[in-house]
Amino acid sequence: MNYRHAFHAGNFADLVKHATLTRLLEALMSDPAPLTIVDTHAGAGGYDLDGELARRTGEAAQGVFRLMQADDAPSVFDALKFAVRKGNPEGGVRFYPGSPTLIADALRARDLYTACELRDDDFALLSQTLERTRGARALQADGFVTAHRPSGQGGRLFVLIDPPFERADDYERIAEALDMVLGLDARACVAVWLPLKDLETFDAFLRRVEPAAPSLLVAEARLKPLSDPMKMNGCAMVIANAPAGVESDLEAICAWVVGTLGDAGGKAEVWSTGT
Ligand SMILES: C[S@@+](CC[C@H](N)C(=O)[O-])C[C@H]1O[C@@H](n2cnc3c(N)ncnc32)[C@H](O)[C@@H]1O
Repeated sequence: MNYRHAFHAGNFADLVKHATLTRLLEALMSDPAPLTIVDTHAGAGGYDLDGELARRTGEAAQGVFRLMQADDAPSVFDALKFAVRKGNPEGGVRFYPGSPTLIADALRARDLYTACELRDDDFALLSQTLERTRGARALQADGFVTAHRPSGQGGRLFVLIDPPFERADDYERIAEALDMVLGLDARACVAVWLPLKDLETFDAFLRRVEPAAPSLLVAEARLKPLSDPMKMNGCAMVIANAPAGVESDLEAICAWVVGTLGDAGGKAEVWSTGT
């Protein structure tokens, strides 16, 4: 496992993923029932954009730095912007919140959160991130296997699947995890982050998961035409059992990211499968 999210923290794909995450959490938590959250690939929890790894790629320059300077970002980014400001009390944009920080900040007393991370170094950082959050635990475990463990506390299940895509079988393992989660709890909300390289891979994934999840909300942010399959030309969030009312906000997220950070041939689209 070579992937470290610190190289990519705060880039355009994180903006799509994390604005979608905060919107889903808001919608799911409008229900008073307890929420059990599993973050299958949690990473370090938060990132120092001044650190060596982040500076080596500079990806946040075309991501969170632009977001925090913009005065035209739609209000669906407010929760993410608030979290960035909270993590940087002295101003500036040095620290960027990962999914564990965003989830931990949203957690209510009745909710449970399990964050899985396999790498020793990122697991140590993740443990520090979550050590003071009641109801949250860091687990050094394979998130694909942990995703479907039933919580036993009732309420709704929300699973975030965000693998590094450095292994050829990541797509198949996501599909297997979706099969298992929805097989055990057909109401579970499952949000998957995917890179958009070429349409064939994306279509094949959607067809593979169709039997388990016949109706998915798909939010695509294509920063450029999908003409070079060796590049990450954009990203998508694919959501099973998306809570009602989020679609227009996901449209606003993708449209702003593509309009602000994409090329002229970029495209933002939110659509549903099986309709
Ligand atoms: C894209 S990063 C996660 C970023 C995080 N979700 C966020 O938004 O802040 C993927 C992480 O998954 C970890 N990882 C890879 N395979 C894993 C597995 N099978 N189970 C749990 N973690 C894994 C990697 O070490 C890496 O830190």
